[in-house]
Amino acid sequence: MNPSRAHETLFHVFGYTGFRGPQEAIVEHVAAGGDALVLMPTGGGKSLCYQIPALLRPGVAIVVSPLIALMQDQVSALKEVGVAADFLNSTLSFDRAMEIERAMLAGALDLLYVAPERLVTPRFLDLLDHLNEAGQLALFAIDEAHCVSQWGHDFRPEYLQLSILQERYPQIPRIALTATADAQTRHEIAERLRLQDAREFVSSFDRPNIRYTIVPKDNPRAQLLAFIRDGHLGEAGIVYCSSRKKVDETAAWLIEKGIAALPYHAGMNTEERAANQDRFLREDGIVMVATVAFGMGIDKPDVRFVAHLDLPRSIEGYYQETGRAGRDGLPAEAWMAYSVADLVQQRRFIDQGEAGAEVKRVATAKLDALLGLCETTGCRRQRLLGYFDEAAEPCGNCDTCLHPPQVRDATESARKALSCVFRTGSRFGAGHIVDVLTGKATDKVKEWQHDQVSTFGIGTELDDKGWRTLIRQLVAHGALAVDHERYGALTLTESARPLLRGEAAFTMRLDVVAPKKGRNVGSARKAADWPEATGAEAELLGRLRAWRASTAKERNVPAYVIFHDATLRDIARTKPGSIEALGTISGVGDRKLEAYGEEIIGLIAEHA
Ligand SMILES: Nc1ncnc2c1ncn2[C@@H]1O[C@H](COP(=O)(O)OP(=O)(O)OP(=O)(O)O)[C@@H](O)[C@H]1O
Ligand SMILES: [Mg+2]
Ligand SMILES: [Zn+2]
Repeated sequence: MNPSRAHETLFHVFGYTGFRGPQEAIVEHVAAGGDALVLMPTGGGKSLCYQIPALLRPGVAIVVSPLIALMQDQVSALKEVGVAADFLNSTLSFDRAMEIERAMLAGALDLLYVAPERLVTPRFLDLLDHLNEAGQLALFAIDEAHCVSQWGHDFRPEYLQLSILQERYPQIPRIALTATADAQTRHEIAERLRLQDAREFVSSFDRPNIRYTIVPKDNPRAQLLAFIRDGHLGEAGIVYCSSRKKVDETAAWLIEKGIAALPYHAGMNTEERAANQDRFLREDGIVMVATVAFGMGIDKPDVRFVAHLDLPRSIEGYYQETGRAGRDGLPAEAWMAYSVADLVQQRRFIDQGEAGAEVKRVATAKLDALLGLCETTGCRRQRLLGYFDEAAEPCGNCDTCLHPPQVRDATESARKALSCVFRTGSRFGAGHIVDVLTGKATDKVKEWQHDQVSTFGIGTELDDKGWRTLIRQLVAHGALAVDHERYGALTLTESARPLLRGEAAFTMRLDVVAPKKGRNVGSARKAADWPEATGAEAELLGRLRAWRASTAKERNVPAYVIFHDATLRDIARTKPGSIEALGTISGVGDRKLEAYGEEIIGLIAEHA
């Protein structure tokens, strides 16, 4: 293959000046007929890895994609740059589906997106057989390939049947793509999709433009509001909650506080959900309050923050969900508030689930790893990447790097807390233990005569909050276990022994109240790359955005399908004076230049 054809397609069709990371190697490998397993972070640019080979190889590329919303977006974006793409799923009328099938058989399509359950129907396989015999199958792309993994929360049983592609069309190249990085998932994908011989392309999973912050839960709603008000007003974001009820309540509360929030969860009816998702994608500055049902494959590039009001189930989940922020590469924030109560709840979900003992053991280990990330005194990013076996230096763009937590020796206090748990019979939760330690003779304390135990009132060195923090860290350390079957009762574990015997020391991390941060999120380096537009430039940017909004509305597509923010910023900064100059800006391909070039040059000229 002539490698410059890939570059030409990248530049003329997609309007980009260079490939990112391993994209070029992947494109060449697949265009030449090779199989590939691609692991690249969210927003890393996986789509081009199959879209460009689809254009370079004869025939139609079949793209398996798990979500209808995702297909629609990708197809509108492709049509917008002049690529012959379409999708087949249950939303289409019979006639429309027939029309698309005919177009495909006639060789009029370069890409067809299809739901996995549709692909494996005898009818569709029959179509594929025809195409195959005519040499008109370009490739198979299996997007969001982690859906094949039973361990993940996106498991889709239909994905298991996709191994048929290898059996039936062994000579057609296949490329599987995912942003889930752990070795177990990777192994499962290779095995279940029969891609053991495929070349693996593993990118760095770092998302340097995302700033990570994890805070102990105090007053979560107020904390969330403060976080949004401090630098994210008017910006698009996602707030994850663990239950439908909490989603509804949180959204209503944010609206009351003047934030443009919308709820999204599986309990809402389909139309309502679709309408909210649509508004989130199309309007600027909507905050989506959602359960994890929301977000997979959402290619909204300008989500400026992802907030978690509850713990995800694992580091993989946390990474995927936070990865939805800042896909455009501009500074973004991942913020989470967590508590021991969250941990208890998650453990309860695991233990009460239907799964077998082995699955429960893995799930518990994953949750513990996440707790380790929450309680680390080191760099969050280093810890996060370390979990995916990737080495990294402290990043300078997470809460622990920016405000190193203070630590102090708390061996004596730890011993007091542990013995208080023991003296009160290992049957009470953190609240009661703190009352006893700090000498509060509440009704409950009196009822159990805990004002009589030797640990009553001995904890003068810390306040309530301090004790709660310490207990949380003892749980994270493993010295205390939380028994959710008995309403969160704390019990001692084996690792409490050396502490109680005075054979081990315990270092406590002090909760810091993070100082107010400035408007510019992102590390100094990132902020310098993306200075806030000011003066005339800001004014032009405003006009470009207004033009984009009305154009998007006219064409009935999300604004970012017209142009990304990053592209508008480049235009506002460089003010190209000619069509040729405009064409060199990243994100402006031939088709868009033709469709919008004159208008934009006009806007710039008017402004000058
Ligand atoms: N070489 C490139 N130059 C500039 N922009 C790019 C390049 N490759 C991809 N992009 C942009 O990056 C964004 C993310 O790409 P894409 O949707 O392919 O991500 P992804 O890896 O599929 O993420 P996810 O896992 O969330 O689906 C897109 O908006 C795309 O236009
Ligand atoms: Mg993708
Ligand atoms: Zn860091």
